[in-house]
Amino acid sequence: VGPTQHTVGPTQPTVGRAKVKVSIVGAGAVGTAIAYACLIRGSTESLALFDTNADKVRAEVLDLNHGTQFAPPCRIEGSDDLAVTAGSDMIVVTAGAKQKPGQSRLDLAAANVALVQVLTPALLERSPDAVILFVSNPVDIVTHAAITATDAPPGRIFGSGTVLDSGRLRFLIAERAGVAVENVHAVVVGEHGDSEITLWSGAAIGGVPAAEFQGPALDGTSGTVFDAVTRADISAQVVHSAYEIIRGKGATNLAIGLSTVRIVEAVLGDQHRVLPVSTLQTDPEELSGVCLSLPTVVDSRGASRVLDVAMSDEERAGLRASARTLREVQATLER
Ligand code: LAC
Repeated sequence: VGPTQHTVGPTQPTVGRAKVKVSIVGAGAVGTAIAYACLIRGSTESLALFDTNADKVRAEVLDLNHGTQFAPPCRIEGSDDLAVTAGSDMIVVTAGAKQKPGQSRLDLAAANVALVQVLTPALLERSPDAVILFVSNPVDIVTHAAITATDAPPGRIFGSGTVLDSGRLRFLIAERAGVAVENVHAVVVGEHGDSEITLWSGAAIGGVPAAEFQGPALDGTSGTVFDAVTRADISAQVVHSAYEIIRGKGATNLAIGLSTVRIVEAVLGDQHRVLPVSTLQTDPEELSGVCLSLPTVVDSRGASRVLDVAMSDEERAGLRASARTLREVQATLER
């Protein structure tokens, strides 16, 4: 993990009150999108980027620092030495292999699990009180590996889960309903991947249950907008979004950057925001022992409380199947 030292960033010591520090591990497309989103939103006063590629992390830090005049104050540094993450309040891990066109997130499991099993203890050694948020895929499998590689308190290590998927769902519902996305409530649960489940039973637009929402929508339809065919079509679009974007531009980074910063701000601001993040499930039995996403209270302690969200029998069966998929992948890695 980065023996040579190419630390870049402001040389002046930080003065005044202790600064809230966020470290981002991995200065690739996702890590830099998260850093950029933190900068323009003023999410933190101190950002540190780590990457094993010294030239890359130096260039990204220079590029970000050159924009600091145009954004809220933020101290930005970077290095290929993990020491740059020391003393972090929160660490976001994006490092590891990324999906290639047509590749599933689960295909990355072996490589990225091996990485985080070494990386996580090293991060906690330098930042013993940090909340660690995993974004690297397959995020549920990677998060489980990180938790089992340490003895961090429950909730201090969790994954970005289906926060992004739920954002994609809300965008598609809002577009079809002709309503602002802020007025759409809908959530995706389970694996951040092909087996995820859309909880249509709880979806609502401006307080109207999705199943009862009447047109006209933007496309002029009238009557029940979210009939069974439309619900299935939207759910499929959510699952396939990443594949489509990766095929077109080689990676997804902008929306995962924004959705990740929503999670970061919920922790740093002790916001008690309910977000579908990936946590180690302990109950009920059919979900226990895997990390997957359910609506969870996120605050300064990390993922602090999983809510018992209502769902239909069909949705619960889908969630159990998603847990089985993840458990099977974990079992292959443990062989
Ligand atoms: C995606 C990546 C973050 O869904 O898994 O875009």
